[in-house]
Amino acid sequence: ARRGDLAGRRVVVTAGGTREPIDPVRFIGNRSSGLQGYALAATAAARGAEVTLIAANTALADPAGVKVIRVETALEMREAVFEAAAHADAVVMAAAVADFRPAAPSESKIKKTDAEPEPIRLVKNPDILAELCARRREGGADAPGVIVGFAAETDDVLANGRAKLRRKGCDLLVVNQVGAGLGFGTPDNAATVLGADGSAVEVPRGPKEALADVVWDLVAARLPGRTAE
Ligand code: PMT
Repeated sequence: ARRGDLAGRRVVVTAGGTREPIDPVRFIGNRSSGLQGYALAATAAARGAEVTLIAANTALADPAGVKVIRVETALEMREAVFEAAAHADAVVMAAAVADFRPAAPSESKIKKTDAEPEPIRLVKNPDILAELCARRREGGADAPGVIVGFAAETDDVLANGRAKLRRKGCDLLVVNQVGAGLGFGTPDNAATVLGADGSAVEVPRGPKEALADVVWDLVAARLPGRTAE
């Protein structure tokens, strides 16, 4: 039933974790492997979509039939997302984007000396998802019809998820519980997909592809101009 239901649709998916340089050889990063984002890209392509995958620091093979753009930092990801989103029907942001970056990365490798090391001062990164949603609210002509965020929460999963959905202004927020062998780097995930319309769809523990298919079902149902099945 799902085969081909995204034909003619352009979708953008983000995957992986950004790296924020401290110096030429060191960075602040996170444990995202990219598996969830790649599963989203592969399932969308299998359902007929034209897929752009914006991948940050992943070690996974390119999914068949998917255009892959590689980035390293949050600022690079922001640029790639805005460029690709201008022509997209839907954007799904499964990447773990660093909230902060070192304010002034050192141009040469920081040396170990007898003195105590200098503290690393951090500045905020832009919130790509919130910015994308804000641009759409302001009436961006080419804004994507459906915008989906992911949220990695460790406690008060649903309350935090609802608050984050409102704050970011997206249509769907996939709240996955991380920790205890789930989430970052694991083949399985479990999530609740919250809708701006108040809906909540529970996805039990299973392969990341299964969660990806549920996300695309919910996206497909919200795409404007959907043709009857
Ligand atoms: O890659 P895997 O190993 O398969 O793991 C998958 C995952 C656990 C990383 C993934 O399923 C997931 O939950 N991704 C979001 C992780 C996250 O850190 O979320 P967040 O609560 O920090 O951010 C919420 C949303 O805002 C996300 O869609 C994120 O892409 C976006 N964001 C966050 C910060 C920022 N500066 N800009 C953003 O756009």
